[in-house]
Amino acid sequence: MIIDKNYWNNYYSINSETKINSSFSEFISSFLTEDDRMIELGCGDGRDAFYFAKKGLVVHAIDQSEEIIKVNKTKNTDGVFFHCADFTIDPVFLDRDQRVKHVYSRFTLHSINKIDFESTLDWIYGRLEVGGYFHFEVRSCNDPLFGVGESLGDNGYYSSHYRRFFSPRETLVQFSDRGFHAVIFVEDFLSANIETDKSVVIRAVFKKL
Ligand SMILES: C[S@@+](CC[C@H](N)C(=O)[O-])C[C@H]1O[C@@H](n2cnc3c(N)ncnc32)[C@H](O)[C@@H]1O
Repeated sequence: MIIDKNYWNNYYSINSETKINSSFSEFISSFLTEDDRMIELGCGDGRDAFYFAKKGLVVHAIDQSEEIIKVNKTKNTDGVFFHCADFTIDPVFLDRDQRVKHVYSRFTLHSINKIDFESTLDWIYGRLEVGGYFHFEVRSCNDPLFGVGESLGDNGYYSSHYRRFFSPRETLVQFSDRGFHAVIFVEDFLSANIETDKSVVIRAVFKKL
């Protein structure tokens, strides 16, 4: 389900330039091979999608904001297909039996509630090849913003927009129940220089067995 579409459209109406790719995109780059197919959830200004495409991947980058998708499509999109869609739903732009090697999400999984997260995990599992990876970075319950705003249950809070914070223990169970294997699972401060806030995040790479 789409939440905060107006918030993100307003944000991108004044922040549409492509920023430098995230430190998380570099962090997972050793898992990537030329010609791999990837789906990105919540691509925003496309900074990581463009980075992956330069590495030779074929990237399907999804965002709910028609404002930023429209701008992204005017840039050099070699290797990237931008889609304005809800990432909680199995993508209709792929054939039913098409699989991908990677699903990637940076700072987007806290935009959705717990029910939608669980169904998103289900379609991702179905879309990944055996041996494929789901890479994500998300704020954890130990993030300084946890508890700020109106509580909406399941570790979700509404301040300027909705954020649901991830419990490391619960996340591990949700993935292992579905047949994912944790290759990387760390909780830490974002330490890279190019990141500005002091988020506490979970950085994870799960493999479909
Ligand atoms: C914090 S931004 C992160 C953008 C990008 N991943 C980055 O790291 O720069 C969250 C993005 O997720 C998108 N988003 C949130 N919920 C979504 C949904 N259900 N479907 C598609 N996009 C969504 C928002 O529009 C926004 O662009």
